[in-house]
Amino acid sequence: MVTALYRRYRPETFAELIGQAQVTAPLMTALRTDRVNHAYLFSGPRGCGKTTSARILARCLNCAEGPTDTPCGVCPSCVELSRDGSGSLDVVEIDAASHNGVDDARDLRERAIFAPARDRYKIFILDEAHMVTPQGFNALLKIVEEPPAHVKFIFATTEPDKVIGTIRSRTHHYPFRLVPPAQMLEYLEQLCSSEKVEVAPGVLSLVVRSGGGSVRDSLSLLDQLIAGSEGGKVEYDRAAALLGFTHAALLDEVVDAFAAKNSAQVFASVDKVIQTGQDPRRFVEDLLEHLRDLIVILSVGDEAKSVLRGIPADELEKMKTQALGFGLAELTHAAETVNAALTEMSGATSPKLHLELMCAKVLVPSSDQTEVGSLARIERLERRIGVGSGDAASPAASVATVQASTQNATPVTRIGSEKPAGVSAPKAEKITEVSAPAGIGGVTLTQFKDSWPNILTLVNKKSKAAWMVAFALSVVDFAGDVLTLKFMSQKDLDSFKNASGASEVLRGAIMDVLGVQVKFKAQIDAKPEDAPAPAAPAEPAPVKADTKPMAVVEEVEPQDQAPAQEVAAAPEPKSAPEQKSRNSGMADESARYGESLLREMLGAEPMQDKNGK
Ligand SMILES: Nc1ncnc2c1ncn2[C@@H]1O[C@H](COP(=O)(O)OP(=O)(O)OP(=O)(O)O)[C@@H](O)[C@H]1O
Ligand SMILES: [Mg+2]
Ligand SMILES: [Zn+2]
Repeated sequence: MVTALYRRYRPETFAELIGQAQVTAPLMTALRTDRVNHAYLFSGPRGCGKTTSARILARCLNCAEGPTDTPCGVCPSCVELSRDGSGSLDVVEIDAASHNGVDDARDLRERAIFAPARDRYKIFILDEAHMVTPQGFNALLKIVEEPPAHVKFIFATTEPDKVIGTIRSRTHHYPFRLVPPAQMLEYLEQLCSSEKVEVAPGVLSLVVRSGGGSVRDSLSLLDQLIAGSEGGKVEYDRAAALLGFTHAALLDEVVDAFAAKNSAQVFASVDKVIQTGQDPRRFVEDLLEHLRDLIVILSVGDEAKSVLRGIPADELEKMKTQALGFGLAELTHAAETVNAALTEMSGATSPKLHLELMCAKVLVPSSDQTEVGSLARIERLERRIGVGSGDAASPAASVATVQASTQNATPVTRIGSEKPAGVSAPKAEKITEVSAPAGIGGVTLTQFKDSWPNILTLVNKKSKAAWMVAFALSVVDFAGDVLTLKFMSQKDLDSFKNASGASEVLRGAIMDVLGVQVKFKAQIDAKPEDAPAPAAPAEPAPVKADTKPMAVVEEVEPQDQAPAQEVAAAPEPKSAPEQKSRNSGMADESARYGESLLREMLGAEPMQDKNGK
């Protein structure tokens, strides 16, 4: 039988305490200069040294050489109050959790009257002081305020707020803190070497993370790992599994897949998380932590090693590659998405579902309309066409681009020279030319045409139905973010709009190949006899043109065809047969089509001021 690690290594002097300099330094000074108060309150999170410090303080006060900031360790008092000592008659440690009433307080009061048996002071340590009842505290008030010269009080508690104010104001309050990871890691390393156990790289940082800044918790975990290790060596796999961490290999797998936009791999890995019985929330936490590490690596460069302590060099190298694969903006976007998912997941009935949705969001920054989302898209685009240098200067530059382009993003477009056949002339002529952003990231029409086969292949992979429709299309123009597509017939256009999200699939494929988010504009391949179609006389429509761009190109999205539009606009030709002029024949047919095209595809409202109609 061995005693627990945290008991064997309980500090015996203030110098041995780690991470509590804010407390130990002033206390030691007070001891050295003999300005010791009669009552102390030690507060702070669990397992960070309150009880230990109370004992050390008692030892310092009662040391034969004292009061001193460093107990001699050899006098009878020091020996009795050491780690393995029997305890001293003059230091009374009271567990307030079980002695919390008025009677206990009275008892204490009576004991305090007697002088110390041997040493300088009679010291009362009230541990877990928050458990004392208000009545109990009130019974103590008087003696804590003006104790006999030989009495000292030390209260220790995790909840100082529960110690009544009148007691608190009679004490010197020293707040303890959680121990920072770096110090904890160093301490654990030291412990391992004095315990002569070998610990695989990465294990101690898992312990530190699990311990959450509490020394006792961290030591307990380490103790457990050592107890379960074979041949005096703590293995990484066992530690990760026992502590419930996502295995670094799995984490790498997911992050690599994210960086490569390999959805299949992402979802396969996520499935692995579920299948191995891991807590999805824990996985998301680990993922967030990993992404944060990558951000640090990308932002700090070679200095990262000193920021991310405890990560082995080869792992750091691997992470650097991962970080470069992402880019800062995309990383930030991913981290934000993951963070949001983490918040949403708490209390969610199906964390797995949230996890998968989160993955989808990380994979498709295009669905994110925030600035970070846009930045991520721009960055991807820059990388694709070899513009972005990936150095520190680029993020700032791309922020500017985003701001510029978002300002212009809305009514940007125009219906210019290549007006869709059948769109009635006057409105089309009324060009609302708003400064078009110079082809985002510099994708040109030529690039579009060159990449078209690739885009089609991708569409084919995603949806056969969409491919059938997209196959018959051709690219006519690309300006701003508007891609003009030529359809063979109205029927084609209809199926493009209706066929199971064909437009979305195409948009997604374009995003993946060229990294641009486009809006579609349709053009029908006009047959010669349709050409003179526009039946309406060329008549400017000044009233509306000023208030609103006539032909704002809307995205072709089935769900976007808001009923509002239909309500606002004139009734659809089909449902309004009276609009049909019997004798116009083909010309009218195509004008009607043009109108519906305007309304449905482009979101514009045809003027209903036509004399003849
Ligand atoms: N600052 C520290 N430096 C080194 N070891 C520490 C420190 N804090 C705690 N420990 C270790 O943790 C063990 C528990 O510490 P201690 O009993 O002082 O915690 P506590 O703050 O009183 O916690 P609780 O609020 O749970 O009572 C100690 O035996 C020691 O091994
Ligand atoms: Mg304690
Ligand atoms: Zn001593």
